[in-house]
Amino acid sequence: MTTVASSASRAAEILSRPITLNGLTVPNRIAMAPMTRMFSPGGVPGEDVRSYYARRAAAGVGLIVTEGTYVGHDSAGQSDRVPRFHGEEQLAGWARVADAVHAAGGTIVPQLWHIGMVRQQGQPPFADAPAVGPSGLRIDGTEGSGRAMTQTDLDDVIGAFAEAAAAAERAGFDGVELHGAHGYLVDQFLWAGTNRRTDAYGGDPVSRTRFAAEIAAAVRANVSADFPVIFRFSQWKQEAYDARLAETPEQLEAILAPLAAAGVDAFHASTRRYWLPEFDGSDLNLAGWTKKLTGKPTITVGSVGLDGDFIGAFMGQGSPVQGIDNLLDRMEREEFDMVAVGRALLQDPEWAAKVLAGRFDELQPYDAVSLKSLS
Ligand SMILES: Cc1cc2nc3c(=O)[nH]c(=O)nc-3n(C[C@H](O)[C@H](O)[C@H](O)COP(=O)(O)O)c2cc1C
Repeated sequence: MTTVASSASRAAEILSRPITLNGLTVPNRIAMAPMTRMFSPGGVPGEDVRSYYARRAAAGVGLIVTEGTYVGHDSAGQSDRVPRFHGEEQLAGWARVADAVHAAGGTIVPQLWHIGMVRQQGQPPFADAPAVGPSGLRIDGTEGSGRAMTQTDLDDVIGAFAEAAAAAERAGFDGVELHGAHGYLVDQFLWAGTNRRTDAYGGDPVSRTRFAAEIAAAVRANVSADFPVIFRFSQWKQEAYDARLAETPEQLEAILAPLAAAGVDAFHASTRRYWLPEFDGSDLNLAGWTKKLTGKPTITVGSVGLDGDFIGAFMGQGSPVQGIDNLLDRMEREEFDMVAVGRALLQDPEWAAKVLAGRFDELQPYDAVSLKSLS
């Protein structure tokens, strides 16, 4: 029977192993999941944002994936409080964030983001910019106020991602993550529900992946060969939790293979509950399938450490499926390589240090109040 002591020593041993993503060695297996916070007025991450990330790096998070940050295209976003990854002041703010995380012993990549048809027209920072997407459709299938992207739009957005990646390397970041998940622009291309194009960017899964693969290739070409490029994707969408990009491993492979070929070094497979099998007939989750199909390092995510079940499992209570031993078993089998933690790390900056040291009794249950501050 698993005891608290054996879980503690396994957690320390398995999660403390370094991992290599292209030229980057991450000191352990714990990543901070990207979380939009809207604490950056004018798109500039300030001192509070810097210390928020540095605190988590100092407390043992091996890799910080920043909140989604807009690439330099007027249509990329719709909040003046979401940090931007373009503009002198904004990039200077980000460089200070990267320095602080490094000083605390961590590594950090920005998550590069374009929201596509999620945008409501008339919103800052560039109120006049239209919402754009593959076919001018929102996730719910309605047209909203946007339009289908022209070839010029596609080229501009691909260029904006490539420029942001180069800016990340110049600013001292350790790599980049491309946001291809959750129903935002890149995912709107991947998903047949929003991509009705009849040109080279629409149709079968490989064609729907073309835009994402062109972004990955342009990013790859604009940074050093050993600079890691991570691609985050999901089956689920905001406002469509049951949506799926791939019903079978073959369909998933059709999406992932062109991305790997374009130069993606690692995948971040976003699920809402990491313990759920992705396809019938196997226990593998989405990250597990991704690693099996591509051979690339993968990051899993989804309700790790979130509720009483995770903490209770340490204490011999709660659901073992959602407990740490399930996670550690899967990591030991090399189903995936890293685990990203979102809300539990919002709640408790010390979460990683506590888990790595086996101080399970000090873990705090998540409370949505933590969304309101940058503590
Ligand atoms: C407040 C909040 C903001 C988020 N913002 C982003 C984001 O900018 N980019 C992204 O890819 N995912 C975002 N997510 C999803 C998280 O990265 C993560 O996948 C999700 O919270 C599940 O992990 P968890 O159960 O450990 O919280 C956000 C989640 C939360 C709670």
